[in-house]
Amino acid sequence: VSAERIRIHINQHVLEVPAGISVAAAMAQLPLPSRRSVSGQWRAPFCGMGICFECRVQIDGKAQQRACMTPVREGMQVSTDG
Ligand code: FES
Repeated sequence: VSAERIRIHINQHVLEVPAGISVAAAMAQLPLPSRRSVSGQWRAPFCGMGICFECRVQIDGKAQQRACMTPVREGMQVSTDG
């Protein structure tokens, strides 16, 4: 993690976050569940190390990305819909 700060978009929110943190860490700043499962239950990061797949979100149009394993990038678009 560096002192540099970047902007990312999570649903309708714009967040300024430290460069190098994970999408899951950025999402922790908002009162958001990760996504709904196919059974309609809310999901959110659990293990934080890429094992449980409970943190999946859509990142820059690509579905089923693990938020805990993906570092933030300037202008990144994150959606909890997929
Ligand atoms: S929190 Fe478990 S895979 Fe991301």
